[in-house]
Amino acid sequence: MATARILLTQRWPAAVEAALLHEYDTTLGERPLSVSEWRDALTQYDAICPCVADRFVAELGELGAVRTRLLANYGVGYNHLDLAAARKLGITVTNTPGVLTDATADLAMTLLLMVARRAGEGERQLRSGQWRGWYPTHLMGTQVSGATLGIVGMGRIGQAMAHKAHHGFGMNILYHNRREVQDPAVARMGARFCANLDDLLRAADFVTVHTPGGQGTQHLFDARRFAAMQGHAYFINTARGDVVDEAALIAALDAGCIAGAALDVYAQEPHIPAALLGRENVVLLPHLGSATVATRTAMGMKVKANLDAFFKGQPVPDQVF
Ligand code: DGY
Repeated sequence: MATARILLTQRWPAAVEAALLHEYDTTLGERPLSVSEWRDALTQYDAICPCVADRFVAELGELGAVRTRLLANYGVGYNHLDLAAARKLGITVTNTPGVLTDATADLAMTLLLMVARRAGEGERQLRSGQWRGWYPTHLMGTQVSGATLGIVGMGRIGQAMAHKAHHGFGMNILYHNRREVQDPAVARMGARFCANLDDLLRAADFVTVHTPGGQGTQHLFDARRFAAMQGHAYFINTARGDVVDEAALIAALDAGCIAGAALDVYAQEPHIPAALLGRENVVLLPHLGSATVATRTAMGMKVKANLDAFFKGQPVPDQVF
């Protein structure tokens, strides 16, 4: 059988590229595909390996016959891929669950600590030469240890966050999820299930989002939800930008409905609303959740395992559909 032709839309860690180049007729792209580049690529490659920055839009489903049979996504979230369009074209879709759980939860914890302890503000002050030395009321933040954390979405990443926050920082855990989690590890933390999201929002000192993106969760955090949060509470998002109505978040910050926010994901990446950029009580990171060498390598190797199984005609480990 001829070697499959595959496209990585952007550069991946060297170890993964080497493994793929060894096995496949591999093209290495440099930037996200435009719609016309998608059209082209779908006629040229047996598999395309996109990432979160590549939008596979509904209109591509109208193409008719294409060469591509697999979209092997480099990432766990796939709300940037229109699954109905892929289905119309007879394309299988895979993702990379499991391997980025800890890295993403670590980053959510980083954001939580940064916003609570005013770390970004302090660093900006120091680097700009504004620090005048220690004094008793300097940049006083919020105590994390012992505070109550509300976790929205208690899948793998939500549970890893609960573990780190509870066992590392003695935080009390509340969570909201489609259904109660029956895992003894969750029970051992004393994590309390809130069937009603508003109950969690009213009680939490920190709220962290770990849901998938897409239609089911779009604007889950709107003006009403921010109004339900406590005035001293912080909002953290490492999931997807479209889970948040960004205008409502900005209005909630302006009105002092919440104390601050720490974000890694945005509705229109890489665009960041100007109203967020100037705020001291907001921490902004550039979608770094899975960005460790070990994790990005493991994600690539998972993509390779999906490609290998698919082209050998074996059951594909991480088939989305
Ligand atoms: C994921 O895996 O979904 C990360 O957000 C990177 O795409």
